[in-house]
Parts: sequence; C-alpha cells; structure tokens
Amino acid sequence: MTVAPGTTLTVRAPAKVNLHLGVGAPREDGFHPLETVFHAIGLHDDITATVKGSWSLDLRAASYVEAGAVPLDDTNIVAHAARLLADHHGLSSLDAEVLIDKSIPVAGGMAGGSADGAAALVVLDRLFDLRTSDEAILDLAARLGSDVPFALYGGTALGTGRGEVITPQPDRTTWWWVLVPSADGLSTPAVYRRWDEMFPGASETPTSARRVLAAIEVGSPYFLGVALHNDLQAAACDLRPDLTALIERGEAEGAHRGIVSGSGPTCAFICDDADSARAVAAALQGAGHPVVLVANGPVAGAHVVSYL
Ligand code: C5P
Repeated sequence: MTVAPGTTLTVRAPAKVNLHLGVGAPREDGFHPLETVFHAIGLHDDITATVKGSWSLDLRAASYVEAGAVPLDDTNIVAHAARLLADHHGLSSLDAEVLIDKSIPVAGGMAGGSADGAAALVVLDRLFDLRTSDEAILDLAARLGSDVPFALYGGTALGTGRGEVITPQPDRTTWWWVLVPSADGLSTPAVYRRWDEMFPGASETPTSARRVLAAIEVGSPYFLGVALHNDLQAAACDLRPDLTALIERGEAEGAHRGIVSGSGPTCAFICDDADSARAVAAALQGAGHPVVLVANGPVAGAHVVSYL
C-alpha cells in the first residue's frame, strides 16, 4: 500500500523503573540472567514520523535532557528499528522524517533509548500500514535491546531471560514516584562490568522478585518501599558515590524508600500519594537538586497519541 507523502503519526512510549532487579552471573553470551519487575511511569518520549522521500532523524529535548548525548546517525536505536522493520518486510527502506521528542533522561537507567526503539517500531508499522504481527514486533524489539519489549507492554510486568521475556502482572494501585535524574549519565555495560568485579562468585540464579510481587498485590506504598530491591545499586553507587547521600536525603524528606533505577544514575523514591511526592520533590529541589520530577505508574506501553 502506498501512503501519501506528508502523512504523520505520533507514538508515545514510557520510561520505566525496576521495582525489583535481581541479577545472576553472566551467561556465555555476556548478558546477565535477570528476574526483574518493570514498572512503566508517566514520563515519556514521543516519536513523530512523517512520510517523506528520504530518511531523516531529528531531536527535540526537554531542558534537563542532554541532547548532545543522542546520536542522530545510523547508530540511533530509532534508525536501527527502521532497518529491522524494513528488512522484516523485505523493503529497501522506510523513508520518513522522524522527530524524537525526548523527556526521558539519556543513560539514566530509565530505558529512554528502549522507549524510542519501541515507539519507532510502532509508529513506522502503523504509518506504512505494514501490519506486522505482535509476535514479530516483540521479536524485533528483543533484537533492539533487552528493555525494548517491556516498553511495548507498559504496565507492571515480570522480566526474565535477559529482561526481554515479559509476563504482565496485575497492578491495581496508582503508585507515586519522585525521580531525580543526574546531569551525567552512567553506561549500562559499565555498571554491569562493575557488578561482575564486585560479585565474582554470584549465583547464576537471580534473586527472586516474589516480595515485590506480594507488595504490589497488597497495594501499600509502605510495603512496596520495604520490598524494593536492585542488585545493581551497589555497583551504581560505587561508580557514583553521591547517589547514596541522595537516597538518604529523599528518605529523610518523607519518601518511604529510595532506590537506584535500573543501572542508574536516576534515583526513584516511592511516596504515599501525589501530595507527599510533591512535598518530597520540593524538599529535594531545595536541597540543591535542580531537576526533580514527579510521575505516577503504571501507565500504558507504546501507543499512538496523534494522527495529525
Ligand atoms: O540489551 P541492551 O542492548 O539494552 O544491553 C546493553 C548492555 O547492558 C549489554 O551490552 C550488556 O553489557 C548489558 N546487559 C547485561 N545483561 C542484561 C542486559 C544488559 O549484561 N540482562
């Protein structure tokens, strides 16, 4: 089917925090087996694609996002997604003018790149009416990165394998989060390498997520705070010792618990409700953290938001 030049579509994909991140000793392929609980929160990247005669990629970023850290060449995950999708359908290219509208911090441990990969698959599939099966989209997503399939699902979900095997979980609570991104990102491979050095005798079996899953079922932010767990936190804090003081400060200001999000350095604080989250955010801003965000979860995975 030929799509008229100028046709435009916008797809939105969420950031995530890991409510549990259990890591096992590295597999033969170098990836670490995970037992994780992904949780999509209301902080998004939007990708707008317009049918054009050739491919182009551009970026518009929130003031706190380090735009210079996002490559706009063939190495960008969005360009990679376009190539994978075109190959899957036996097409030479998918020619579109693509704009990434970025609010998720870069290299922040919140899967911002993965959100872009997931949004790109959905926006290009819908724009060019490719009708890719869900199974094929999930397979392409897993090839793009371990966190990309979850960005398609959203909600709250168990992640196993290297994180790409997703089992959605019931979650009837609205959880309120304060997020503190850092001006300097952390490289995910570097955090995993540091974890390997710190825990050379680690078991191949990652720690179980059952406590977090039980707390989600109860629906209490206090219990979720007690249960939150991130095996990568020690490695992230070793590379970035300032994170330990930030977590202590957020907890002292009234959050139930603070935790490093994924491989960091963004820290996520679980709060009682919206008012409590706003109060903790204001206190952390007052304590010298220029960028503090409030978001709730769970929210939807990658979805179309505009057909204009
Ligand atoms: O899958 P993704 O491309 O997002 O992974 C980025 C890097 O993070 C990998 O190259 C690997 O170094 C590390 N990683 C890992 N184990 C995982 C997921 C990611 O070691 N389960």
